[in-house]
Amino acid sequence: MYTLGIETSCDDTSVAIVKNSTIVLSNVISSSIKFHKKYGGVIPEIASRLHLEVISCTLEEALKQAKIRLKDISLIAVTKHPGLKGSLLVGTSFARALAFGLSLPLVEVNHLHAHIYAPFLNSLWRRNSIFPFVGMVVSGGHTSLFYLKDFNNIECLGATLDDACGEAFDKVAKILGLGYPGGPIIEKLAKNGDLKKIKFGKIKTKQPLDFSFSGIKTGVLYYLISKGYKKSDALSTKHYPISLKRNLSASFQETAVDSLVNKAILACKMKGVKLLAVGGGVAANGRLRQRFQQETKREGLELKVSPLEFCTDNAGMVAGLGQYLFKRGLKA
Ligand code: KG4
Ligand code: ZN
Repeated sequence: MYTLGIETSCDDTSVAIVKNSTIVLSNVISSSIKFHKKYGGVIPEIASRLHLEVISCTLEEALKQAKIRLKDISLIAVTKHPGLKGSLLVGTSFARALAFGLSLPLVEVNHLHAHIYAPFLNSLWRRNSIFPFVGMVVSGGHTSLFYLKDFNNIECLGATLDDACGEAFDKVAKILGLGYPGGPIIEKLAKNGDLKKIKFGKIKTKQPLDFSFSGIKTGVLYYLISKGYKKSDALSTKHYPISLKRNLSASFQETAVDSLVNKAILACKMKGVKLLAVGGGVAANGRLRQRFQQETKREGLELKVSPLEFCTDNAGMVAGLGQYLFKRGLKA
């Protein structure tokens, strides 16, 4: 059974073809990032207009790469929410029209749940051997922990109280004048930095499974001010020596990863589960992946992290989850 997935919740237009819930035959992503770069973040109006321009050819390319035709598709899955309103409207309208025109069933999925499904793509697993487990989404818009009894029985355990983790990476990169999106740039600089050089205050939240990242982001700014830089120096990389940028990147990244890994493991302990699944754009971070591997091994937990290609927004995870839910009776 072939499912066509459509994802347009933010700036990436993506169409994928997935076979039998897990085998990704194609996963085409058309990114509009270069149009947003100069603003240092995603501009919703630009994003939705570009989705509209490229969605048809993204679909054609996905079919071509999967070597199938529209008439071979049995189900359409689309991201319903959360996301940018205008962007979501393009994807859901396109999906509904396609389903109506082809007389196919439609499934609308939650974007965050799709990020938790991503670690299970292109791998072998049996439904009755994974549940219940703890799922973590670390992206540009969300940082959340979930308890899953099934993919249609999900409880939120905690979430960020302020900035999402990816958003904090992007904002720190902005403070250092590094460009957008900040995550991959910070990761690259951090590789040659001293992760213990700069100490940020402990991240405290009232609920142990909630997150907060705005404090470390502000900590980066205050550290620069304490070194004699002015607030107005922020946004211009030329002011800062490379060693400072590397050490700040490494120390910030380590503090953020510490918080993520500690809370994810605490959630597994509190719920008494043996499996942790991690997805979302920030899950592409090499240091995060390494620390999660080390710490889960130490705690005797099984870890499933999203394959790199399915970390940032993609329609493969939407098609996979859509088909899984359809088999369990869900239909729009
Ligand atoms: O999941 P995603 O594509 O979009 C949302 O649903 O938000 O995540 C995008 C976020 C951005 O904030 C970006 O800076 C971050 O993921 N990101 C990373 C890395 N690659 C992308 N953060 C840290 N390290 C990375 N390698
Ligand atoms: Zn996302």
